[in-house]
Amino acid sequence: MTIRRQRVEWVVAADRSHLHELAANVILDVLRNTERPVFGFATGGTPLGLYEQLVRRSLENPRLLTRWQDVTGFNLDEYVGLSPEHPQSYHHYMWRYVYRYLPVRPDRMFIPKGIGNLEDNCRSYDESLMKYGWPDVQILGIGKNGHIGFNEPARRLAMNTHVTRLSESTRLANARFFPSARDVPEQAITMGMAGILRAKQIVLLAFGEAKRDALIRAFSGWLGTDVPASLLQLHPHVTVFTDQDIFGDLS
Ligand code: PGA
Repeated sequence: MTIRRQRVEWVVAADRSHLHELAANVILDVLRNTERPVFGFATGGTPLGLYEQLVRRSLENPRLLTRWQDVTGFNLDEYVGLSPEHPQSYHHYMWRYVYRYLPVRPDRMFIPKGIGNLEDNCRSYDESLMKYGWPDVQILGIGKNGHIGFNEPARRLAMNTHVTRLSESTRLANARFFPSARDVPEQAITMGMAGILRAKQIVLLAFGEAKRDALIRAFSGWLGTDVPASLLQLHPHVTVFTDQDIFGDLS
């Protein structure tokens, strides 16, 4: 079922692999039809099926595969304190699940650096965004608390790339990727709200009961920094791919 509610398009289906396929269609269309595509990548459990589709369908089609040579990638975030080689770092994630299969240019695949001088890393990340352009498509997940990237609920939200303290809810949710909850870093570097909202198009994936409440709060018609994803309602081109039918719960 596809419906348009206010400015947001909702693609709702029970089958997650079907949703991944439909989301992959959006990315692959831009890959085919844009001279120098810029993609904003998310990490976490939700987009793995989408990446599997992108890789498989690119490998099956030599012309599509070569298009990846012209891609610039920007990731949303990285844990502070984890080196790029660390198995739980988002650098490692991207190379493990996506980049190693595709003919991408490593110097064009930007991921915030969680080690070294963090202030410098934030600044140079924003400079790269300005130089290569904000994403043609930004892939997003959503946290149970309504975060996007690691822009956590707060009294104020930052525009630019910044260091942030992870909420307990986020650390608990991500503990499944670490030996124990104690090992989840307390801080991260994340693209700010401006970086996300300047993307031309946003593809938001949200699966399972656990994300239901966050979706309802994000798309209720109200805006608040206590639900960072609610600012997506201001964006002109958001598509939500979800297995949750929440329309009865929206005001
Ligand atoms: P998840 O994370 O895909 O692992 O649920 C999403 C998010 O926190 O943005």
